[in-house]
Amino acid sequence: MEAELDTKEFVVIDNGSGFIKAGFSGEDSPKVVIPSVLGKYDPTEPGRPAITKFGNEIDLKDPHCALYFPIERSIIKDTDQDWENMRDIWEHLIKDQLQLDPSTINVLITDPVLNSRENKQRISQIFFESIGVSSLGIMSSPVLSLFSTGKTRGIVVDIGDGSTSIVPIFEGFALPHATKRIPLSGIDITNYLLQNLSMHLKPEQFTVARGIKEEMLVVPQDYEKTMNGKDLITDEESCYELPSGEIIKINKQTRVNAAEILFRPSIINKEIGGIPEITAESIFKCDIDLRADMYSNISLSGGTSMMRGFHERMEKEIRTIMSGTVMGNEIKVVSDSFRQHAAWIGGSMLASLSTFGQFMVMSKAEWEAEGTIRQSLVHKFTF
Ligand SMILES: Nc1ncnc2c1ncn2[C@@H]1O[C@H](COP(=O)(O)OP(=O)(O)OP(=O)(O)O)[C@@H](O)[C@H]1O
Ligand SMILES: [Mg+2]
Repeated sequence: MEAELDTKEFVVIDNGSGFIKAGFSGEDSPKVVIPSVLGKYDPTEPGRPAITKFGNEIDLKDPHCALYFPIERSIIKDTDQDWENMRDIWEHLIKDQLQLDPSTINVLITDPVLNSRENKQRISQIFFESIGVSSLGIMSSPVLSLFSTGKTRGIVVDIGDGSTSIVPIFEGFALPHATKRIPLSGIDITNYLLQNLSMHLKPEQFTVARGIKEEMLVVPQDYEKTMNGKDLITDEESCYELPSGEIIKINKQTRVNAAEILFRPSIINKEIGGIPEITAESIFKCDIDLRADMYSNISLSGGTSMMRGFHERMEKEIRTIMSGTVMGNEIKVVSDSFRQHAAWIGGSMLASLSTFGQFMVMSKAEWEAEGTIRQSLVHKFTF
């Protein structure tokens, strides 16, 4: 049965390349977290529609199921098919998972950094014209992550599944000239493990590789020392039990290199700096008066920042890069235990303020009245 929400309440949706989080404003955590994948099975009889399944409902081993991933590197891919798939996922979340009548709800949706205007316009169009919600707000994902920590100044380093966003924020506003979104994040580590364990894992077993990553990897504090066996992670081989019951051995080189990718992207042939280097670059792009606010509040968010040892290594590297320019004890990396869902939680907190619903969202009536100048409406209501 579909329920109706209090008219001031919001459904908060954080679209991620790996997982979509959805739930109600004012709550501490999302009600639903589903993998951002959709599976289509051929119709059982000619003339019948294809059967669509979502997230965890999909049997990844079924050869009759075609998989679709509409979000790539944090951005919804711009093809009609991907927009349609994304629409179906949103509708599934609202109607099937949260059991709501879309026409009665207000939605706050998170916006990845450096997303195009056209992309936001299309999101708005789908929510108003196809799903038919009553109002919509679009908020910058890193601004919400920082808001979840109770701060309005600092640099957010959000390491998700599809990308890493590095965003200095001052008084609640992202500083665009120093903002970066880089294609280096959790999926790169998962793919590295899949490739290196290809004798045991098929490409469609990416969820198994993801599990190995989350359970086994520890970021080395000193890569060379660890490789040479003089660190804590010294076992030459570690065992892992696959869902089939088979026990596989994963050698040290694979484990250490996988955990090092975020600091040394050359391991996967990416010619970009590691996350600490790019964070420091972003801080130096900020006005000199703002830099102390940034390096004293380097706020980690996103699931990949949960990797053991990441926080300590990040702080160590930033201190090394910035030594000589800043007093070491002024540098502070902050990581809250809830950081995996920080953007969603910040959205939940913000949307529960009465001012949000009053001033920061577009209503369906406004959308319909604006006609051809909707672009400026979307722009006006994106924060
Ligand atoms: N303990 C852990 N160690 C390593 N990685 C982890 C851990 N916990 C979660 N992750 C990884 O975090 C990623 C999911 O994080 P998150 O939900 O922030 O990403 P997303 O929002 O889906 O993606 P994005 O924001 O990049 O588009 C996955 O790659 C997951 O494997
Ligand atoms: Mg995310």
